Amino acid sequence: MLMDRDAFFTSLWNQYIRVTPQANDIQTLLSTRGECLVNDHVAFRTFDLKGYDLATVSNILASIGYKAFDSYTFPNKMLRANAYSVPGDPRAPKIFFSELIRSELDDESRSIINEIIAPLERKLTLADLTGSYPFAKPTASQYEKLADISEYAGWLSTMGYQANHFTVSVNSLRTLGSIEEVIELLIEQNYRLNKVGGYIKGTPKDLLVQASTIADGIHFEFSDGLASDVPSCFYEFAYRFNDSDGQLFQGFIPNNANAIFESTDRQS
Ligand code: NI
Repeated sequence: MLMDRDAFFTSLWNQYIRVTPQANDIQTLLSTRGECLVNDHVAFRTFDLKGYDLATVSNILASIGYKAFDSYTFPNKMLRANAYSVPGDPRAPKIFFSELIRSELDDESRSIINEIIAPLERKLTLADLTGSYPFAKPTASQYEKLADISEYAGWLSTMGYQANHFTVSVNSLRTLGSIEEVIELLIEQNYRLNKVGGYIKGTPKDLLVQASTIADGIHFEFSDGLASDVPSCFYEFAYRFNDSDGQLFQGFIPNNANAIFESTDRQS
């Protein structure tokens, strides 16, 4: 049966809070203050592999009304990304979808990825995005090598397809008026926040300021029987400003996103 947009986001959220209990806790924390949360965007990660790449993703997302409206590159992370929205429906959460550019990796990482993606036969589907792990698991040492070169690749090799994060629209909060107040509350509640470049990514001049937690950890068994906790997913907070035409800015800022990606880095 075809999934509609609401069913997609419900299924996506349910999978997300299974691996990201902090998101459910923070949602409860905000709800008890009387907040009704609005989701600014969700993010996904993939490899630039035929049937799984951004071109494929664009087709999949079109089935629930999404259209790409911007694209970005992250040269130092070997990534590119598209931003998607539903034309004519500003209430639909935006989708930020990135892909790892395999040709920019070293030979060893590329060959590890080739082993991981070897079982893939059919194309990615919409249902897959709400939680699926179609890869061959890496060994613990393959995972470490991969994550040393690209934390993004390490994450994708263990977590597969699901929302990498959901994002609270701070504009829609009534009891907290700014990203600073959100950060203050989270610190007071002992949540670990991403400090890359400071708690707040971006400035009002960028028209988008963001903050995020550090990803939760989840038990993962590698193909060689070794097991450890690996980073799962995190929660993000975004405040948008009006552009010069008086319209709320809807895009993404590569500098901000570059720092937000590091919310799933292994913590020492
Ligand atoms: Ni984000």
